[in-house]
Amino acid sequence: MSAYQNAYQQSVASPDIFWLQQAKNIQWFTPPTVALENDANGIERWFPDGELNTSYLALDYHVENGRGDQTALIYDSPVTGKKAQYSYAVLRDQVAKCAGMLAALGVTKGDRVVIYMPMIPQAAISMLACARLGAIHSVVFGGFAPNELAVRLEDAEPKVLLTASCGIEVCKVIPYKPMVDQAVMDSRWKPDKVVVYQRSEQPAALDHERDADWATLFERASPHDCVPVNSTDPLYILYTSGTTGKPKGVVRDNGGHAVAMKYSMSTVYNMEPGEVFWAASDVGWVVGHSYIVYAPLIHGCTSIMFEGKPVRTPDPAAFWRVCDEYNVSVLFSAPTAFRAIKKEDPDGKLIGDYPMASLRTIFMAGERLDPPTLEWVELHTGRPVIDHWWQTETGWAISCNPIGLESFMTKPGSSTQPTPGFNVQILNELGQPAETNQQGFIAIKRPLPPSCLSTVWRNHDRFESGYLQQFPGYYVSGDGGYVDEDGYLFVMGRIDDVINVSGHRLSTGEMEEVVGAHEAVAECAVVGVYDEIKGQLPLGLVVLKDGYYSHDGDIEKALVAKVRSEIGPVACFQRAIVVDRLPKTRSGKILRRIIRQIADGESYSVPSTIDDPASLDDICHVLSGH
Ligand code: COA
Ligand code: AMP
Repeated sequence: MSAYQNAYQQSVASPDIFWLQQAKNIQWFTPPTVALENDANGIERWFPDGELNTSYLALDYHVENGRGDQTALIYDSPVTGKKAQYSYAVLRDQVAKCAGMLAALGVTKGDRVVIYMPMIPQAAISMLACARLGAIHSVVFGGFAPNELAVRLEDAEPKVLLTASCGIEVCKVIPYKPMVDQAVMDSRWKPDKVVVYQRSEQPAALDHERDADWATLFERASPHDCVPVNSTDPLYILYTSGTTGKPKGVVRDNGGHAVAMKYSMSTVYNMEPGEVFWAASDVGWVVGHSYIVYAPLIHGCTSIMFEGKPVRTPDPAAFWRVCDEYNVSVLFSAPTAFRAIKKEDPDGKLIGDYPMASLRTIFMAGERLDPPTLEWVELHTGRPVIDHWWQTETGWAISCNPIGLESFMTKPGSSTQPTPGFNVQILNELGQPAETNQQGFIAIKRPLPPSCLSTVWRNHDRFESGYLQQFPGYYVSGDGGYVDEDGYLFVMGRIDDVINVSGHRLSTGEMEEVVGAHEAVAECAVVGVYDEIKGQLPLGLVVLKDGYYSHDGDIEKALVAKVRSEIGPVACFQRAIVVDRLPKTRSGKILRRIIRQIADGESYSVPSTIDDPASLDDICHVLSGH
């Protein structure tokens, strides 16, 4: 048996033995004796009698074991011109002080702290400080509007909100504090304190009683020790888009997460401690949680926080410059980032300026890796590109090319083989195994491996109904795809209302709720249509109420502005089109799939259940004019 087959078979046949063995690779305060136990909801939980602290694993452990002087975190910010490096010892001290600052504000184990910050070291420090106290952090991506922050504040009920005075997007300064004020005003839940890290680019007025200045509190704080937590205690809540307007709070445990992060660094990424790992993402997304902050540090690597974009900061060589300057061994980003680079430097001329001597492998995830992008990056960088598939819910790759065990030949369009621990199955509508090469629902046979979500925060029913009930015994991923005759997995796209815009996961259902709430709108459909750079972009078709007319596109413009202000610029909702009617089945279901196929110029078959076939002609006519 090959190394991969051996690991994979053991992980699915005897997950308890396999994962207890992996659990030995991290330093527990109380090592677990039991691998897996069902909780009161019947959900399997990993290492229930283990005690640990994730911040200890990421920092103190390394300082105690000779890595104190090694760089833990590099901050590179082309948008401000600033650069900084934190050794493990310095980062541990800063995190301990930040934990002390939070403790002085009354934050203790189990309390929530919301973090709404740009890509600055204080974001990672805040996350690790929460982990140090056993408090549960919930990071909200900076591109989300105040309303999105308010929804998360109401759900997570944090004691403290940590933020910065501003973010910087290419050359635009984005004041965060007014957005935070708006969110706190709109939210039924008010945090006791809003702590603001003042950035010199644009400091904020601290004009509410609840406001506090980060630097002042930090200066006064005493360092706080690591608080032991149970393996099954939550480390964080990360909200992600589902099919409704309300985001789902994915809950991640401490113990399973730490074990999976450690395992993934060697198995998935083939990283050695001491090497430099760069996930060019944002701490607001799961990739940022797992591979900017936790996994590289738990593994004793150096991680990079890059406050910039693949292009325009200042040019499409930004990725190559960073890889070269910091001796990056593994680069990980979303395909959209490389498409943006390819558009501005089609022949990859700038790549040659940077030898990138340490760069071994480039990983991509977040959306389907289209073969032309894969080929372009491989051709111009001369490095292997590995597609791997994962979700916020799992926190790490469900399928990958497990180069730490053995390298498989790549097949463009495939994320290769299931990662050890994930018993991936393709099921048909009836929940039966699909044939080889036959598309179906991608499901994972339970138990899910460590790090996968244990529930949806304060809404366990949503976890059951959204993921577990459709096919008993399985977790349904929400993606469709197939497995070929060599066991390669091809992820073909979402089968629900989730779309991926620039590698960012967004809900068309949520956009429909925002658009549909406009006074002029009778009904609407939002679909994700193909975009050359961003992968997908939302398109809204709206039917107006009788008596409403759009003059010079005023309603369309108002709808675009409404989504931008209620969800955020990151939704990239730029197209709303007024139509007379929407194509529907006789039972009233809007035929969104067909709308998308028409918009993408794909062929489609008209279902026999369509109510009014002429409605499709209308859509074709309208879209051909746009
Ligand atoms: N804070 C505030 N605003 C933000 C933001 C943030 N953190 N992130 C994005 N925005 C804003 C942008 O400024 C832009 O606003 P605009 O409409 O006023 O111009 C809007 O949201 C859309 O941003 P984006 O989708 O990022 O488009 P872009 O044209 O600026 O950049 C890419 C396109 C492809 C270069 C960029 O999206 C990218 O690098 N994507 C990689 C994504 C990634 O890392 N995904 C994580 C999974 S690995
Ligand atoms: P997120 O939860 O934001 O990480 O988004 C997860 C979703 O992104 C998945 O359900 C997929 O739809 C998509 N995705 C992530 N990685 C890949 C990949 N390698 N190939 C295809 N789709 C992907």
